[in-house]
Amino acid sequence: MRHTVTKVVVPAAGLGTRFLPATKALPKEMLPVVDKPAIQYVVEEAVRAGLPDVLFVTGRNKNALENHFDRATELEQILVGKGDAARLQLVCESSALANVHYVRQGDPLGLGHAVLRSRDHVGDDSFAVLLGDDLIDGRDRLLERMLQVHDERDTCVVALMEVDPAQAHLYGIATVDATDEADVVRVRGLVEKPPAGTAPSNLAIVGRYVLKPEIFPVLEQTAPGRGSEIQLTDALLTMAADDEVGGVHGVVFRGRRYDTGDKLDYIKANVMLACEREDLGPGLRAWLREYVEQLVLEPV
Ligand code: G1P
Repeated sequence: MRHTVTKVVVPAAGLGTRFLPATKALPKEMLPVVDKPAIQYVVEEAVRAGLPDVLFVTGRNKNALENHFDRATELEQILVGKGDAARLQLVCESSALANVHYVRQGDPLGLGHAVLRSRDHVGDDSFAVLLGDDLIDGRDRLLERMLQVHDERDTCVVALMEVDPAQAHLYGIATVDATDEADVVRVRGLVEKPPAGTAPSNLAIVGRYVLKPEIFPVLEQTAPGRGSEIQLTDALLTMAADDEVGGVHGVVFRGRRYDTGDKLDYIKANVMLACEREDLGPGLRAWLREYVEQLVLEPV
């Protein structure tokens, strides 16, 4: 599919404090989901959607991430010497995948600030932002649909999902109007992580955005919000009220999303994705059934 967007921004400067001690020396983006770093799924998603130009907004301690998307010549040579073509392919996959670029965030001033740091690279075109904590199943073409809506309506697009109201305080929450397309809504209101019990809806932003470049001057003017950080959600609220820039639309996603943002959800994501795999699934599913039976018999 051809579309007007070519660049992807992936904020990756967080400290990953929810995963300590695992993230003391390892960037959280490099934690494996089954057998691949979480961040590789995100880059694969971008490439699948036809966007191989990826800018990571990084911080200190992210060398492992840069190494992962670079050649590993010594390792490659050893595998060539052993004639291990299968493993060689796994090693080469991530370095051949995309055209990767890096910019440092500098001050950790929030997601909106991280996106603002991409301005020089992005220039005057629309671009996508993919957050590494949300993995979208490769069979569900969310990003492609968002790019299509962006192109057809000349608007910013966010991915929205219905969440359990008890979880709404963990997300940016949208109030919306219906449109003539069942999976597309016009965003009217946005609030970043509303205090528990105050969310105006259960439609949450999941970490996929297609943004018009007009977001940059708005981000520059956006005062620190929730957590004293510059929030992308707040800048999008300004864009939503601006008909001249096409407002903000949401694509309501009903597919498979794996949250790797906290420990319990990360473990669930590993189990679900491993169950789907041809090599691991049959063995894992059989063991899980036995294990669950045992849990039912001897509840903790
Ligand atoms: C960010 C956004 C939030 C969004 C969430 C999706 O929050 O600020 O609006 O709902 O990603 O994962 P974070 O989870 O990075 O704190």
